[in-house]
Amino acid sequence: MNKYIASCGTASRRGADEIISAGRVKVNGKVVTGLGTTIETGNDTVTVDGVKIVPVSKFTYIMLYKPKGCITSVRDDRGRKTVYDYIDVQVPHLVPVGRLDYDTEGLLIMTNDGDLVHRLAHPSGEVPKTYSVRAEGQFPEHILAKLRKGVEIDGVLTRRSKVKLLEQGEKEARLSVTITEGRNRQVRRMFEAVERNVVFLKRVAIGELKLGGLARGGWRYLHDDEVEYLKSL
Ligand code: URA
Repeated sequence: MNKYIASCGTASRRGADEIISAGRVKVNGKVVTGLGTTIETGNDTVTVDGVKIVPVSKFTYIMLYKPKGCITSVRDDRGRKTVYDYIDVQVPHLVPVGRLDYDTEGLLIMTNDGDLVHRLAHPSGEVPKTYSVRAEGQFPEHILAKLRKGVEIDGVLTRRSKVKLLEQGEKEARLSVTITEGRNRQVRRMFEAVERNVVFLKRVAIGELKLGGLARGGWRYLHDDEVEYLKSL
């Protein structure tokens, strides 16, 4: 119990014992004064003076609204902007989870939690990623069906995807596309495979995690429940 409270940054382990003995700690709504009580992180709710406490993560998790015109890597031989130019805090070993093209904007997660990077970035992973797409041309049902069923990229069919036509204009259309793979330039190349040119591409969600109202080029720390969600994917 004192170890748990210390891991939340509330007190030292000795300080935690005093807090517990004073009857200020509740576990799942009940006052607990036994110093030997074991806490199961994630299952038990612990409060001190009525305020919920959670362990401080040793990792940093950031959501960036990557603008177009920068690359998703640490540095560039050609001196182009990188996503690091937009994160104005010094966090060691912060890396992007997956990539967005130079010309693509939207939701990018950055973290120094190597396990999470590995799990989420793996190309065989099933995590759905949703894109807002603007593309030239007409999108009759048979073109949408092809995109949904899978098209060939480098001789390999893309997995089934969700494609919604949101608006069909005279020259351009607006669509929502959800894919469960992360092949290189996948959305653009899927559209090329049906002879359509993408003119705007923005990732709006990774699973249930949405970009929301973040400003282009802005970033924020992920909330604990968002981190838990990503770990559960
Ligand atoms: N699909 C693309 O074409 N580009 C991206 O950056 C992401 C998905």
